[in-house]
Amino acid sequence: MNYRVTVLKGDGIGPEVTDEALKILELAGQKYGFTLECTEALIGGGAIDQTGDPLPQETIDRCKAADAVLLGAVGGPKWDHLAGQQRPEKGLLRIRETLGLFANLRPAIVYAPLRSASPLKDEILGDGLDILIVRELTGGIYFGKRGRRGEPGSQEAFDTEAYAEYEIRRVGQAAFEFARKRGKRLCSVDKANVLDTSRLWREIMVDIGKSYPDVELSHMYVDNAAMQLVRHPRQFDTIVTSNMFGDILSDEASQITGSIGMLPSASLAAGTFGLYEPVHGSAPDIAGQNIANPMAAILSAAMMLRYSFGQMAAAAAIEEAVNQVLAAGLRTGDIAYGGEKPVGTKEMGQAIAKALASL
Ligand code: IPM
Ligand code: MG
Repeated sequence: MNYRVTVLKGDGIGPEVTDEALKILELAGQKYGFTLECTEALIGGGAIDQTGDPLPQETIDRCKAADAVLLGAVGGPKWDHLAGQQRPEKGLLRIRETLGLFANLRPAIVYAPLRSASPLKDEILGDGLDILIVRELTGGIYFGKRGRRGEPGSQEAFDTEAYAEYEIRRVGQAAFEFARKRGKRLCSVDKANVLDTSRLWREIMVDIGKSYPDVELSHMYVDNAAMQLVRHPRQFDTIVTSNMFGDILSDEASQITGSIGMLPSASLAAGTFGLYEPVHGSAPDIAGQNIANPMAAILSAAMMLRYSFGQMAAAAAIEEAVNQVLAAGLRTGDIAYGGEKPVGTKEMGQAIAKALASL
């Protein structure tokens, strides 16, 4: 098998962590019998500098011609003064919309060796956390009508939350499928006591649930969900929620794992196409110093193998290699809580490669 991957390294630490992920993918291919044909393209600040556009048409074309996209990170202080439409983040929002990436998977996992880094008490963590947040990614208030009216001094600004049934249905179905393959419990998070979009969301989730009698569906208001995530996070298996609520809850969930620098994500379209990126940002303050943690990028590559290419064994092997390296005590600076001597980005990549090779 040969897979075409468009690589968007992006800004800050994006290039260096993506390079490690690419090495691991290459090695996994040799071991599991597939090849990758990688093409690079520009996104974010780097794209603004070179073309004036955070998401140039050429990048869109290259992504559409690929089987999957691997992204590093975008943004940095250099571009913070730019107006909304020209910001690096706008490149992210447009690529989600253009490629139809409606289902965003954000796992929140506590890696046993990093447990002490979680801000939660031991008894709350219990035997660990493994939550999958499925965030709707191409609708809602992120993409609704927005604007301003009136004169300066008495202006009004507005953003609109709107959800069509088909948008709720497709992400709901995806979430039920994932829940079915995991702990068979799906919690749909909304604000149905106030918002009409949420009431429709809930109706559709109940309707989809009829086709998944093996998955236990529950509903929770988003304010309560934010509280339950720190009070009793182990009650959650799979969570499905709207774009805005998912943005907020996924940050909260990642932080309670204590390992935000470790977390990968997948943004899936219909079919097998997807974009894979670490949850962490571009960390411009540490860029280019060989100290960034490449594990989230490497684990994102593993998600790509699993969800876009169906290479389950290769994906599981990469995850196992990451676990082994952690268990052996190797740490980059961001996770060296136990006073371990940190290793660099490249050294961490090499250690994972070595563990993978000897599996
Ligand atoms: C995320 C980020 C983005 C979002 C920003 C950078 C536009 O916070 O991926 O969660 O809000 O979706
Ligand atoms: Mg966010």
